[in-house]
Amino acid sequence: MSRQTPIILGIETSCDDTAAAVVDGGGRVLASVVSRQLESHRPFGGVVPEIASREHLRNWPAVSAAVFEQSGVSLDAVDGIAATQGPGLIGSLLVGLSLGRALAYARDLPFHAVHHLEGHLYSPFLRTDGGPAEQPPTSFHALVVSGGHTALYRVTGGRVATLAETRDDAFGEVFDKIGKRLGLRYPQGPLVDELAERGDPSGLRLSVARCSDGSLDFSYSGLKSQTQLEIERLERDQIGVVGEEAPPPVADLLASFRAAAVAQVIDRLDRLRREGQAPDLLSVSGGAAANRLLRREVERWATEHGVALRLVPLEFSGDNAAMIAHAALIRERRGERDDPLRVEAASRLPLSPATAR
Ligand code: KG4
Ligand code: ZN
Repeated sequence: MSRQTPIILGIETSCDDTAAAVVDGGGRVLASVVSRQLESHRPFGGVVPEIASREHLRNWPAVSAAVFEQSGVSLDAVDGIAATQGPGLIGSLLVGLSLGRALAYARDLPFHAVHHLEGHLYSPFLRTDGGPAEQPPTSFHALVVSGGHTALYRVTGGRVATLAETRDDAFGEVFDKIGKRLGLRYPQGPLVDELAERGDPSGLRLSVARCSDGSLDFSYSGLKSQTQLEIERLERDQIGVVGEEAPPPVADLLASFRAAAVAQVIDRLDRLRREGQAPDLLSVSGGAAANRLLRREVERWATEHGVALRLVPLEFSGDNAAMIAHAALIRERRGERDDPLRVEAASRLPLSPATAR
């Protein structure tokens, strides 16, 4: 397999996954390694920021050794460094970004401070078979669903305009919170999805939130409260999750919850279309893009309306560094670079260069 330059080392430590990847100039993922910290956070039911940053420091030597070994690329053969700048947990971001800045400075390599969401929104163009990434079109729409974001963007020539974002809980976050309320172990989102898969949503229809001002923004706190009330009702009848087994009424409730959560996403896509902004191509990404019903429903919607869909492969849906190196490559092609001595990690970071409504 011929490798193209520049070879980019990506580093991603924005939350609780320690990730490194090597991507070549054609966007081929030569290796992508993700070390999760599930056992360290599980006793607390969610991510503990202080633990996450310490674990990143502890995990990095093994993660970087693995990525060099798997890719067959040595640090000497790397032509550029990319690291996530934000948004995310500040202590976690600082570990990966500082590593990246130091490596780039010490070895005098081009450096890219990448926005985490930019990593996600280009990730559906990556391939899992080692082939070159698809060239993103000049203009496309992107839906990102993760633990921190539910957002719709229009990407034009590298500029990212926000069309809709979450006003309260994000899509993945509300799955985590409902799972936690039921006593499920961390990370709850994938488990809730799995239990919902066994339930029947037809008995209870939960409402799909819309913003009264007519905006396309997302809101999940109402659905969260409705679902919590239903959980309380079941608990009064002594019905709940035992271990990881959900009795049929709980599975049915989770199926109704998931159906309403996904219906809200489809509602926004549909409204976008009816407002005459139908996407030619829609990229769907983010950790919660692993959701099975969401995947089925966006596929159905895209086919029905003749929209070209790029649904992120499961391998790259959760946080990973291949998406960070890939986004850096796209920036590099546009001639954008950052000064490793000047960039700062930011827990909140607008999508550059400007977000517009
Ligand atoms: O992108 P990601 O790895 O981290 C953030 O940037 O937030 O997304 C993680 C989020 C978590 O909230 C997790 O519970 C959720 O994605 N998630 C899911 C599923 N798999 C992961 N939510 C619903 N259904 C899933 N199958
Ligand atoms: Zn993410």
